[in-house]
Amino acid sequence: MEFIIAEDYEGMSRAAADVVGSVMQDDPACVLGLATGSTPIGMYACLAEDAASGTVSFADVTTFNLDEYVGLPGTHDQSYRYFMDQNLFDKVDIDKARTNLPDGCAADLEAMCDAYETKIEDAGGIDIQVLGIGHNGHIGFNEPCEDFPVATHPVDLTESTIQANSRLFDDVADVPRRAVTMGIGTIMKARKVLVVANGEGKADIVSEAFTGPVVPEVPASVLQLHPDVTVVLDAAAAAKLDVA
Ligand code: PGA
Repeated sequence: MEFIIAEDYEGMSRAAADVVGSVMQDDPACVLGLATGSTPIGMYACLAEDAASGTVSFADVTTFNLDEYVGLPGTHDQSYRYFMDQNLFDKVDIDKARTNLPDGCAADLEAMCDAYETKIEDAGGIDIQVLGIGHNGHIGFNEPCEDFPVATHPVDLTESTIQANSRLFDDVADVPRRAVTMGIGTIMKARKVLVVANGEGKADIVSEAFTGPVVPEVPASVLQLHPDVTVVLDAAAAAKLDVA
């Protein structure tokens, strides 16, 4: 596990974009696993700048997002499809037909999840998976639980996640109670993983996840077992990390 500790959010965003950009430069037809949330917004802005300057190109890139709310269509401003369009896809030279998110409005969610796994495999697997980390240690919407969930699956959100995400909705009652997420197995199959976290509110969970025991109650802790993980933090999120 490699740690890159930047001074502030801007530095974290640039460093994270450089990690993704280097994968894109090595293989312009790479497969990116993408994440939503507040943390990667600056990284996406940096990648859009890099695409504008010609440092990277999304022309041949395929993307798979980690998760999506159940019941929100892509036109809803809190859907993750909408987030990705606004923060990245509409700003870069990507072919939208090659951008994939789980369909939270599918009539048969289980079948959609199976098809999503197959589509990732058919694309050759994910070259780099971007992850934020929840205050409870979730990655994607893999919430703390008794066993690591393997594949893409529907999930009931925990109260802490509903509360954390309610900041983006008019009312907490509007936050969907369910989502669809890649599983821990899906994430662990990515050839490289990039975790981004910023702010003092993430300091405890960053330390617990990456220096504590590997347990499904802290889903991100499983990343300690992945052979190629880069964790990019700002100084505040790294404050409680005790690594050599
Ligand atoms: P955040 O979310 O980037 O908005 O903090 C991270 C997460 O919950 O995975």
